[in-house]
Amino acid sequence: MIKDIEKAQEFSTTTVALITSSVDDKINVMSAEWTIRSSIEPYMITIFVGYERGSYEMIRKSGEFGISYCSDRQGELAHIAGNHSIRDMDKFATEKFKIFPSSRIRAPLIENAICAFECRVESEFRVGDHAAFNGLVLEGYYGEGEKPLVFHGGKFHHIGDRIKH
Ligand SMILES: Cc1cc2nc3c(=O)[nH]c(=O)nc-3n(C[C@H](O)[C@H](O)[C@H](O)COP(=O)(O)O)c2cc1C
Repeated sequence: MIKDIEKAQEFSTTTVALITSSVDDKINVMSAEWTIRSSIEPYMITIFVGYERGSYEMIRKSGEFGISYCSDRQGELAHIAGNHSIRDMDKFATEKFKIFPSSRIRAPLIENAICAFECRVESEFRVGDHAAFNGLVLEGYYGEGEKPLVFHGGKFHHIGDRIKH
């Protein structure tokens, strides 16, 4: 093993989710690799959002978020949602994001994701320079036949073969 605190971070592997939020007549989407199921019963998902993100303000105000885990066909969406802010552009105006309405929250979800959830914020706390939103899962969906997008070394990948053991 090689000792290098900065480089070591690049070797972690995550998924990428598209976090949707809605306030008044505005909707937004941002990419997030820092998301995790955080309780079995009740079913909860925690997401970590930088305070400077447009999404932070919108999730805080609405008390809700949608989370759509990217399939490996959605690299372009993860790139757009993660490299542009609602402060500079309406990401939905690109017409790249196909959405469907949620049943329990106002923010829509993203079509062709591997799975997607509607969440209500139960609590929020600070973790260093990010806010953790603990979301109670109200509804869930999955895309049959979709494969996850994998984020590794700052690049998007397909998932590999199953390991037998
Ligand atoms: C692959 C990827 C993963 C990201 N993960 C996170 C994350 O977990 N949390 C976060 O706050 N920002 C994350 N970002 C950055 C935000 O998506 C980015 O700042 C975005 O422009 C915020 O948009 P908004 O200002 O419209 O909310 C990620 C970006 C990329 C490209």
